[in-house]
Amino acid sequence: SIVILDFGSQYTQLIARRIREQNVFSVVLPCTAKLEEIQSCKPIGIVLSGGPCSVYDADAPNADPAVLNLGKPILGICYGLQFITHHLGGKVRSAEKREYGHAEVSIVDPAIPLFAGLPVNLHVWMSHGDEALDLPPGFHLTARTSNAVAGIANPDRNIWAVQFHPEVHHTRHGTELLRNFLFNVCKAKPDWTPEHFIKSTVAAIREKVGDGHAICALSGGVDSSVAAVLVHRAIGDRLTCVFVDNGVLRKNEFFKVQENLCEKLGLNLVAVDASGRFLSRLAGVTDPETKRKIIGNEFISVFDDEAHRIAQQTGGVDWLVQGTLYPDVIESSSVKGPSQTIKSHHNVGGLPETMKLKLIEPLRDLFKDEVRRIGRDMKMPEDILQRQPFPGPGLAVRILGEITPERVALLQEADDIVVTEIKAAGLYQQIWQSFAVLLPVKSVGVMGDQRTYAYTCAIRAVHSEDGMTADWVPLPYDVLKRISSRIVNEIRGINRVVYDITSKPPGTIEWE
Ligand code: XMP
Repeated sequence: SIVILDFGSQYTQLIARRIREQNVFSVVLPCTAKLEEIQSCKPIGIVLSGGPCSVYDADAPNADPAVLNLGKPILGICYGLQFITHHLGGKVRSAEKREYGHAEVSIVDPAIPLFAGLPVNLHVWMSHGDEALDLPPGFHLTARTSNAVAGIANPDRNIWAVQFHPEVHHTRHGTELLRNFLFNVCKAKPDWTPEHFIKSTVAAIREKVGDGHAICALSGGVDSSVAAVLVHRAIGDRLTCVFVDNGVLRKNEFFKVQENLCEKLGLNLVAVDASGRFLSRLAGVTDPETKRKIIGNEFISVFDDEAHRIAQQTGGVDWLVQGTLYPDVIESSSVKGPSQTIKSHHNVGGLPETMKLKLIEPLRDLFKDEVRRIGRDMKMPEDILQRQPFPGPGLAVRILGEITPERVALLQEADDIVVTEIKAAGLYQQIWQSFAVLLPVKSVGVMGDQRTYAYTCAIRAVHSEDGMTADWVPLPYDVLKRISSRIVNEIRGINRVVYDITSKPPGTIEWE
């Protein structure tokens, strides 16, 4: 694999994804990883990422400089270049002119394998405050901007570095540069493919589980469904999937998910209608975090009951399947400090702690787009693979104020209209999330000659890369018009529709 040492750049995950897009496996380790840990990944090359600090900062993230002596090919990016310069006897200084955003770079040594086939003038993305001043012994300049070093190399030691970010979309020819590193410098083989992943993962699960029995909580979304299908391929009906109606699912979702997973994919599925149980616990509750806690705890309790029942029928359950993805794994081992809790995003499928189940996490090494690729390769239906993210606590965090069965029904209808119209306009897959929110605000309207006094519904549509930041989407007026007129005309109980034009930050995607 290619090991990426993370010095805290916002682009580190992007480096990993760009490398994997070339069908080469890559892993991200915190820069503080021990040499043994790096070597246990059997690296054929090491990438040193960018980072927000200066090498001279007292709290600068630090890697063991011995990584530079492992004899593996090295690519330094941004801070990575400064790290190499600083530790191999060169000099870094705070730049007189900081460079952020677009920049023009001239390649001064086009003969190095890293730059093979690239034009000599590159449009790149820069983001740095420090720069290399003196190069370390044995290094030469390979690229420059009008006022600073943009690339250095020591071919004898197989160390290469650039000051710009080849992983960022705005750097033209960035992918070619990374390909050059992978295939010219590291001699990588492009063998990280969906087929390879599926085959080796299924074999590994089969071996691990032996003749044991596994259970899995399904949400109907991409991650848990793909995880379940992989495990099902390995152990067949010794995997029992549990799908819980928590009373705040979307319109017909309980039946649609059963149809998709049971009939189309042949999973062994237990569907539990626990909506009454959830809704009675939620009655009278208005605080968002309390809603989340109730739903999280209730879910664990329902799931626990089912698991015990299944264990009695099957003679014991040993394994729990979870759809944990790679970004969660990186996040929990990252060098960044703890951040403030804005919302507790506990997902469906939290481990019931008393059950002492062992975990199977077949997607632990994958990014979301890779999960979709794997699902597609296993011929899973597109409406599962392309489903927009839906929060674990479901419509509960989209009904502001108290949750009542009447309000749930109103929002289910409104949400269904939004999704149907967005799909009909061909926009569903281009939008990260698009949905309706029910506000506890009543206003006066008029229908026919009748006065109405009913709820307000807000429409929200956002673009996002990862849910961390988001921009509101300027939906076409005619789509908004159809959504608004259908909601007000078809749903008794809602007489006003408003459009949310807040980005994140300062807003959040969900209203609660
Ligand atoms: P926010 O509202 O925090 O949402 O901007 C970011 C992303 O997370 C989803 N979300 C949740 N997912 N449990 C979940 O599983 C939750 O409690 C939860 N709250 C928000 C939200 O839909 C968006 O994709």
